[in-house]
Amino acid sequence: MGTMTSIVFLFVCWTIKDNLKIPDTRGKYVFITGCDSGFGNLLAQRLHKKGFSVIAACLTEKGSDELKACTSQNLKTVVLNVTNAESIDNAVTYVAEETGSKGLYGLVNNAGRATPIGPTDWLDMEDFHKVLNVNLIGLIEVTIKFLPLLKKGSGRIVNVASVMGRLAFGGGGYCLSKCGVESFSDSLRRDMQHFGVKVSIIEPGFFKTGVTNLEIIEKDLHRLWNRLTPEIRYAYGDKYFDNYLKVQRLSMKTLCSSDISKVTNCMEHALTARYPRTRYGAGWDAKFFWLPLSYAPAVVADVMLKIMLPQPNGIKNSVAKNQVDV
Ligand SMILES: NC(=O)c1ccc[n+]([C@@H]2O[C@H](COP(=O)([O-])OP(=O)(O)OC[C@H]3O[C@@H](n4cnc5c(N)ncnc54)[C@H](OP(=O)(O)O)[C@@H]3O)[C@@H](O)[C@H]2O)c1
Ligand SMILES: *[C@@H]1O[C@H](CO)[C@@H](O)[C@H](O)[C@H]1NC(C)=O
Repeated sequence: MGTMTSIVFLFVCWTIKDNLKIPDTRGKYVFITGCDSGFGNLLAQRLHKKGFSVIAACLTEKGSDELKACTSQNLKTVVLNVTNAESIDNAVTYVAEETGSKGLYGLVNNAGRATPIGPTDWLDMEDFHKVLNVNLIGLIEVTIKFLPLLKKGSGRIVNVASVMGRLAFGGGGYCLSKCGVESFSDSLRRDMQHFGVKVSIIEPGFFKTGVTNLEIIEKDLHRLWNRLTPEIRYAYGDKYFDNYLKVQRLSMKTLCSSDISKVTNCMEHALTARYPRTRYGAGWDAKFFWLPLSYAPAVVADVMLKIMLPQPNGIKNSVAKNQVDV
């Protein structure tokens, strides 16, 4: 009875603390990367409605114009390519001028890409670089260059990782980059606590956006499959590629939620709560499947993923053939 009461009491206290808000959003500047589409785009509009002064960074001029068209003076846009040092420097200069003596209140590192993604022996170094440069190296460079403004504003950093940063499946730079974001954010949080800068990590499950766009993923998988050597294609078997596409289509259709506000709500909490959380699992699949599975023993996760993913066909044959040759 005593234990039960204590648990309820602690839960109530935690809930109250978690629901406390900062007093005012007006005059607080938030800078968001990757606002052309998806989470970043929705967050920019949401924060703008909440009264924040939003500076939304878009990769393209087109994305920037479209976002500006549907908002007011309190939302400014800049063009930013996070893999380009000069582009980051320009954004920092612009934000420094806009924010003046106030400094920056929020930095949301949201820009990211998923492709190329596929079995590891289908990929070359360029494929890895393409993703790591945006999702990890770009995120680190943006963060480091904005830190002086964030310290000035006693600000907050919100980094978008993924459940795939906790549980790695599907080869390529994506899982590595998101695991790197987790690790970078943990060190950053511990280093910056002394300077009044808070750091939160968002771990979304699967959502319907640009990074889960089937057309883009399938087009890139065809590119990878078509350039494979006959040996590797033989080892996987012709059926494998078709099965891979089928599983991909089915899983994207059934797994991806179209309610992306589940993710932006977490980002908003990280920016508006008096005490932002360290980690946010966003979406039911993240909370009840992917994150728990990531804590399970590796053998459990391995079996689950083996059931879910297609199996290469020819591996045993090619191994047997090699053994005969020897
Ligand atoms: N959707 C999911 O299921 C999911 C799950 C976990 C984590 N995430 C993460 O959530 C973040 C937002 O993605 P999203 O789902 O909202 O997909 P999205 O609609 O594709 O948004 C990603 C944004 O990043 C931009 N971007 C790509 N390369 C860039 C670069 N070099 N510099 C600056 N911006 C760049 C994209 O621009 P373009 O549109 O012009 O390419 C796009 O606006 C990403 O970090 C992603 O990895 C997504
Ligand atoms: C972003 O910058 C990189 C490196 O400078 C470049 O290769 C890429 O094409 C740029 N992307 C866009 C959309 O401008």
